[in-house]
Amino acid sequence: MYRIGQKEVDAVAKVLLSGKMFRYGQMGLCARFERRYARFLDVRHVYMTASGTQSLTAALVGLRIGPGDEVVVPACTYMATAVAVLAAGAIPVVADIDDSITLDPNDLEAKIGPRTRAVMPVHMWGLPCNMEAIMDIARRHDLLVIEDACQAVGGGYEGRMLGSIGHAGAFSFNYYKNMTAGEGGAVVTNDERVIERARCMVDCCSFYWNGRDEYTEHFVSSGARATEIAGAILNVQLDRIRGIINALRRQKQRILRETADTGLTPIRANSLEWECGSHVMFTLPSVAQAEAFAALVGAGIAGKTGRHVYTEWAPILDKKGGPSPALNPFQMEENRDCRSEYSPDMCARSLDILNRTVMIGTHPDRKRPQVTAMIRRIRRAAREVL
Ligand SMILES: Cc1ncc(COP(=O)(O)O)c(C=O)c1O
Repeated sequence: MYRIGQKEVDAVAKVLLSGKMFRYGQMGLCARFERRYARFLDVRHVYMTASGTQSLTAALVGLRIGPGDEVVVPACTYMATAVAVLAAGAIPVVADIDDSITLDPNDLEAKIGPRTRAVMPVHMWGLPCNMEAIMDIARRHDLLVIEDACQAVGGGYEGRMLGSIGHAGAFSFNYYKNMTAGEGGAVVTNDERVIERARCMVDCCSFYWNGRDEYTEHFVSSGARATEIAGAILNVQLDRIRGIINALRRQKQRILRETADTGLTPIRANSLEWECGSHVMFTLPSVAQAEAFAALVGAGIAGKTGRHVYTEWAPILDKKGGPSPALNPFQMEENRDCRSEYSPDMCARSLDILNRTVMIGTHPDRKRPQVTAMIRRIRRAAREVL
């Protein structure tokens, strides 16, 4: 959460006092946000959900990915990316990241097998994946691309908005995200048939409210409908997001510029001008140097957040893919030929990079002297550890 204030309070108060908190047949704040976010992203369809995880699952189901399919996910992401694959009934295959901290296109290509149907590039920490290479591989191997843009609201890649480049994209608006309603999410695509299935996955009862003829899709799913309260907040947050991202980008670019002569190695940027700018990251020569540098600067280590590395995905590594054996994709007959051999060192290269990479968070409300002090700390720490 970066900025939230009186405008959000007023918008929520208006919904509460109206008593109209259900999205259908009411004030239309979810629908308004969907229209506006579609324009912001330059996509045809946006549908709000209750979370990023539900949005990812809806995107996969929307694209008809399910039992019998493998989906490549990166070694560095929140577990929800791989969880969504299992929630759709498919099997996640884990690929390395590279020195950009995002999916390594070479390892993606190496990991493609006869059952691979899709790839989920994750724009971690607002850092765009190498979408040109990934889309090229996807075209050559006939893969579907679902962008996990949960951590990258407002970011772009070479002029296009993240989430709008693949066959579908998913966003989270939980408390920690660039734009937030406390919880929430959205699935986006240009394909009408995909959004129809995704809608059904999010709210299979919606035809009661919207008319039976509107949807050709019919199947049962669990509910993940968004509320008008989220719609109210997100319409205000959408007014703020450009200012937030511009401030983050400016701050990051200043820090990079003014530390360029320190000998520190910034992570490789796939699209520096367009990324969110929410973190400045340096990869140090050794784990010991990274730890010393992080301690001196007051920063974190990418591999040690406690929740963004495949080694921390306990239920997946244990193959507990569902609440009962019959609902566990790892035990489904259709998935018998899918690869699901996981081990703690299966992406050792990713662990090495992540454990040597220091993350320094930026903030849109940080004042110039605070950034100057941060730059001084980085320069001093670099002199000590390099
Ligand atoms: C990369 C990534 N994917 C998916 C999610 C899931 O989003 P949510 O928590 O809204 O379900 C998150 C949330 O932190 C995330 O960081």
